Amino acid sequence: MSSSAQPIKTVTIIGSGLMGSGIAQVAAASGHKVTVVDQSQEIIDKASASIQKSLGRVVKKKFPDDSKAQQTYIADVMSHLSLQTDAVAAVKSADLVIEAIVENLDVKKILFSSLDKEAPSHTIFASNTSSIPIKDIASSTSRLDRFGGLHFFNPVPVMKLVEVIRTPETSDETFSALESFGKAVGKTTVQCKDTPGFIVNRLLVPYMMEAIRLVERGEATPRDVDTAMKLGAGYPMGPFELSDYVGLDTTKFIIDGWTEREPNNPLFSQSELLNKLVAEGKLGVKSGEGFYPYN
Ligand code: CAA
Ligand code: NAD
Repeated sequence: MSSSAQPIKTVTIIGSGLMGSGIAQVAAASGHKVTVVDQSQEIIDKASASIQKSLGRVVKKKFPDDSKAQQTYIADVMSHLSLQTDAVAAVKSADLVIEAIVENLDVKKILFSSLDKEAPSHTIFASNTSSIPIKDIASSTSRLDRFGGLHFFNPVPVMKLVEVIRTPETSDETFSALESFGKAVGKTTVQCKDTPGFIVNRLLVPYMMEAIRLVERGEATPRDVDTAMKLGAGYPMGPFELSDYVGLDTTKFIIDGWTEREPNNPLFSQSELLNKLVAEGKLGVKSGEGFYPYN
C-alpha cells in the first residue's frame, strides 16, 4: 500500500475565511490535528472567534441545558486546532493540505508551488475552489497524482455535502483518501470530474446569475425574487440572500473565470449590477452590505 493511502490525521488548511474556518471546525471536531493559516494575526484571531461562535451554536443543539458539557466540547475541539501565519512551516507535517484562499488561479498557483517544495512527499494537496479547474491549479506542483478537489459548502458545519474531484492524473489512492476524509468529517461525498463548477455550482451559479439579470431587466425586485424562490420552490434562501451569503466577490470571481473560458456561453455572461456592487466594496454579509444591508 502506498503511503498516500494511509488515513489522514493531520490537516493544514490555508485560508481562514468563510470556508477555511468552517472546514477547520469540522476537521477538528472529528479528531484531526488541524493547523489553519492566514495572512495576518488579525485575520486568524477573527477566524478563531468565528469558529468558537459557530461551535457555540453546535453545542446548544448537542448538549441542551448542560453548559459544562458545552464548554468541555468547545475546549476539546479548540485543542485540536492551531492557527498561524506561516504556510510553509504549517505543511511540514501535514497528511493533507486544503487550500481555501481567494478564487484566483494565479494566487492559488503561487501558493501551491511554494508548498510543493516544502511538504513531505506523501502529503496530498486539495483545493476547495468553487470554479477553477483542479488540473490548472495542480499544474503548479510536481505531485499531480496526489492532487484533487475537496469542495465544501457554506456554512460548512451545516451543509452535509462534499464534492470530491479527480483530474485524469489523480491516483486512485489519493481519490480514496480524499473520499475517506470527507466521510470522516461527517459529510456525504459525491464523485466529480474536473468540469466547470463540478455538480452543484454548475447548476447553482447560473441560477444565481439569471436571478440578477432578471432584476437588471426590471422584471422583479430582489426581495420578490427571494420570496418567490423560498415560498414557491422551497429553497432555504432566495438567490439574492444566497449571493450575499456566498460573497459577491466570490460570485464575481467565479463568473469572471467562466466568462473568460467560455465567452459565448450565455449562462456565463456578466452582470453590470454585480460588477458595480463589488466595485463599491459591497460584498454581501461579510462586508455588511450586498444586495441587502446587514448589521
Ligand atoms: N455554524 C454552526 N451552525 C450553524 C451555522 C454555522 N455557521 N449556521 C447555521 N447553523 C445552524 C443553526 O444553529 C441552526 O441549528 P438548529 O437547527 O439546531 O437550531 C441551523 O443551522 C439553522 O440555522 P438558522 O436557524 O440560523 O437559519 P436557517 O434555518 O435560515 O438556516 C442556513 C441557515 C443553514 C444557512 C440555510 O438558510 C441554508 O441552508 N441556506 C442555503 C445555504 C446554501 O445553499 N449553501 C450553499 C452555498 S453555495 C456554496 O457553498 C458553494 C460555492 O462554491 C459558492
Ligand atoms: P474568504 O474571502 O472568506 O476567505 C479567503 C481567505 O483566504 C481570507 O481570509 C484571506 O486573507 C485568505 N488568503 C488569501 N490569500 C492567501 C494566501 N496566499 N495565504 C493564506 N491566506 C490567504 O473566501 P471564502 O468564501 O472562504 O472562499 C475561499 C475559497 O473557497 C475560494 O476558492 C472560494 O471560491 C471557495 N468556496 C467558497 C464558498 C462560499 O460560499 N463562499 C463555498 C465553497 C467554496
